[in-house]
Amino acid sequence: MVILDNHISKPGWCCSKFDGSGFFGDQYFNPDLWIKGLIMMATLFKSTTNVVGMSLRNEFRGPKQNVNDWYRYMQKGAEVVHAINPDVLVILSGLTFNKDLPFLIKRPISLSFTGKLVFEAHWYGFSDGLPWKSGNPNHVCGRAMHQFMRKAGFVLKQGYPLFLSEFGVDLRGTDVIDNRYLNCLLGVVAELDFDWALWTLAGSYYLKEGVSGFDEVYGLFNWNWSEARNSSFLDRISGIQLPFQGPIQQPGQPGAKQHKVIFHPLTGQCLQRKSLLEPLNLGPCTNSEAWIYNTQQKTITIKGTYFCLQADGLNKPVKLGVICSGSTSKWEPISDSNMHLSSKPARHGAHVCLDVDPNTSVGFLQKAHAWESRSFSMR
Ligand SMILES: *[C@@H]1O[C@H](CO)[C@@H](O)[C@H](O)[C@H]1NC(C)=O
Ligand SMILES: *[C@@H]1O[C@H](CO)[C@@H](O)[C@H](O)[C@H]1NC(C)=O
Repeated sequence: MVILDNHISKPGWCCSKFDGSGFFGDQYFNPDLWIKGLIMMATLFKSTTNVVGMSLRNEFRGPKQNVNDWYRYMQKGAEVVHAINPDVLVILSGLTFNKDLPFLIKRPISLSFTGKLVFEAHWYGFSDGLPWKSGNPNHVCGRAMHQFMRKAGFVLKQGYPLFLSEFGVDLRGTDVIDNRYLNCLLGVVAELDFDWALWTLAGSYYLKEGVSGFDEVYGLFNWNWSEARNSSFLDRISGIQLPFQGPIQQPGQPGAKQHKVIFHPLTGQCLQRKSLLEPLNLGPCTNSEAWIYNTQQKTITIKGTYFCLQADGLNKPVKLGVICSGSTSKWEPISDSNMHLSSKPARHGAHVCLDVDPNTSVGFLQKAHAWESRSFSMR
């Protein structure tokens, strides 16, 4: 499926605050020409069925930004696109490099159509920057998550879809900020079940900012586009490609079948049991056990069975049992990010956290403070 994305008015690398393409009225961003462009594109792709959406403009930015003009032109742009192609989704971007939509809380958008408006947001490690490097990643993750929800994620509560239309990392795995951010982001994406687009497919550019053959280290392809730049990254994002929620699983609807999966952002896999006798391990989320978390008793059981998740003790594998009343069966999501499942198996013992052995993929228990980049979360 293809989404047309109106990116920049003067060809070049996008985007900077002062590139003259940041907001209506900038040097290269004439609103009337922009409307003409939308009309042309909506007309051109009207009968192309795999063009499913039109994003009216990428990453507003710069000193001219203001909310009144955003409403004025976005409403106009949305209406012209809809009038020409009523089947296409209309996708609206926020201010400040597509991070800010909070003005919608007080002032809903007014359009003649319903049921096909989508908001989009971008979220990168560099949006929150250095704190990822110097701070406790769980504090930073918790903060970044709340900030994202306050500025963009809240539209979900208003009943609109939110499309995470850009995220990405340096795929060499050497950027600490990107690595920590990605663990956090994957947990949030799994939780909210976003549709998303990755920056970027391209392995390199003919020419970028004067450099020919520029290597794109965020690119899924390697420099010569012959193979994947980093296959472990592909494995990780495959965990969030399938929807976790579907139309029949909407909360509050009759027949909704809800359960939780225990998602491991570092691998993109989920906790499962191969058989009753084998230890719990990671596998594709499509094979995940259906876990039920009892918020009063704090037990995690496999749906439709008596089996619950049990913590034996430090450095021991996590296991299943049927006597679920003791402290070994109580679990709580902890830390600022809420992405760690913790238990306190012995009365005077320490908290342990669910972790995974990188060699065997078996779930085991380790000290609650040793959680640097590993995390589990119930989604
Ligand atoms: C792929 O990413 C992982 C994790 O970030 C990193 O450890 C690894 O070195 C990367 N592989 C390549 C080929 O860059
Ligand atoms: C593409 O690049 C990779 C390493 O970056 C190299 O191993 C491979 O031979 C190259 N393929 C072609 C067709 O040039």
